[in-house]
Amino acid sequence: MKRHVDMDSKYSAIAHEKCPKTNNLKRKNGYSQVDKMAVKPLKKKNSEILKQNDVVSNCKDTVNQTNGVFEENIQVDRRRLPVYLVRSRLVEEINNNATLILIGETGSGKTTQIPQIIYEAQLEDAGTIAVTQPRRVATISIALRVAAEMNTEVGNIVGYSVRFEDVTSPQTKVKYLTDGMLLREAIADPLLKKYSIIILDEAHERTVNTDILFGIVKLAQKERIQQKLLPLKVIMMSATMDVDTFQKYFDNCPVVYLEGRSYPVTIYHSKIKHEDYQYAAICTIFQLHATLPPEDDFLVFLTGQEEIETITYNIKQIAKEAPGPPIKVCPLYAGLPSVKQLEVWKNPPPGTRKIVLSTNIAEASVTIPRIKCVIDTGVVKER
Ligand SMILES: Nc1ncnc2c1ncn2[C@@H]1O[C@H](COP(=O)(O)OP(=O)(O)OP(=O)(O)O)[C@@H](O)[C@H]1O
Ligand SMILES: [Mg+2]
Repeated sequence: MKRHVDMDSKYSAIAHEKCPKTNNLKRKNGYSQVDKMAVKPLKKKNSEILKQNDVVSNCKDTVNQTNGVFEENIQVDRRRLPVYLVRSRLVEEINNNATLILIGETGSGKTTQIPQIIYEAQLEDAGTIAVTQPRRVATISIALRVAAEMNTEVGNIVGYSVRFEDVTSPQTKVKYLTDGMLLREAIADPLLKKYSIIILDEAHERTVNTDILFGIVKLAQKERIQQKLLPLKVIMMSATMDVDTFQKYFDNCPVVYLEGRSYPVTIYHSKIKHEDYQYAAICTIFQLHATLPPEDDFLVFLTGQEEIETITYNIKQIAKEAPGPPIKVCPLYAGLPSVKQLEVWKNPPPGTRKIVLSTNIAEASVTIPRIKCVIDTGVVKER
C-alpha cells in the first residue's frame, strides 16, 4: 500500500457551485520548462471568445430548446466549464495540428467537452472521434453524460465500447472506449481507418495498453499520410503528465495548457496520524453526517472490496442509532458488476444521503454528481 501524495480531488469541488474563477489557456512550444511558458490570459477577452464561438455553436446546435429543467441545467453547467469557454481557441489548435498534447485541471471539461467541441466544429470530417479511457466504469458513465449533454440517446451520435458491450451504431461520431478495446481494434486494422481523430485520455496513467497505443497511433498517422488515406489527428489529454517525455516521443508536438478550475476546493488534513484509518474514516463520516444537509453526498476512498464491504456493514449498523438523515451506501470497485457500479449515479430518495465507498477507480475521469465531501483515507493498494 502507499499513501496518496495528492489529496486534492474534484469531488469536494462540486460543493461550491460557482462560476470558474480563471480561464486561461497557455501554450508551450519546444522544450522550455512549464514555468517559463508564455502565458496568454484569455479572461479579458472572454466576450470576444464567446462571439467567435457563435460560429461553432451555429455548426450544430446541441441545445434542446424545448426540453425541461434538467436539459437546461445540464447546458448551463456545460457552458460554465473552463474548456467550453476557450473552445474557439481549441478548435483552432486542433485544426492546425496533427498531434497535440492537452493538459487541463481535473473537472475542467477535457473528457466531456473536447470531443463535443470537435464534433460541433465538424473537425472529424468523414471519420469518427475515438476517446480512450483506462477504465470501463469511466467509459460508460462519461458516454452517458455526453449523450445527455448532446440531447441524444447513447448508441446514437455518442456511443461507447467496453469489453462484452458495444453500444454504438453507424451514426456514432463520438465513441468512448477503453484503451483495451482500441488495442483490439488495432489488431484487426492497424491503421485504425474508421477514426479521423483519436483522443488518448488520462495519458499519464501509462498502462501497457496506453503505451502500446502511443506507438500504434504514431505509426498509423505516418502510414496514412504515405498511403494518402484520411489523415489521423492524435490528441493526448491529462490533468498531470510528464509533458517533455510525451512531447519528445511525438516529434515535439505543441502542448496546450488549459487553466481554470470549475469549483473552488477546500482541503482539510488530519492533524494526527491515524493507525486505524478505517475507524478514522467512519468517525469522520458520522461527524459530517450529523451536521450537513442530506443532499450533500459523500465519497470515501478506501483500498479494496473487502474493506468496502466491512465499512458498508459498519455504516449501516451505526446509522440505526446515529443522528442525521437516512443513508444509502453505494460501493464502487472494479470487481463489482457494471449494473451495480452504475447505482452510484442514481440519486437517492429525497432526504436521503448517498455515501459512495470507492477504491481509486473513482479517482480519475469519473464524475459523480451531488458529491460535496470527499473523505480520503490516503491509502491505496499498490500493484
Ligand atoms: N456524470 C456527471 N454528472 C454530473 N456532472 C458531470 C458528470 N460528468 C461530468 N460532469 C461535469 O462536467 C465537468 C467536466 O467533467 P470532465 O470529466 O469532462 O472533466 P475532466 O477535465 O476530464 O476531468 P478529469 O481530469 O478528472 O478527467 C465536471 O466537473 C462536472 O461538473
Ligand atoms: Mg477526464
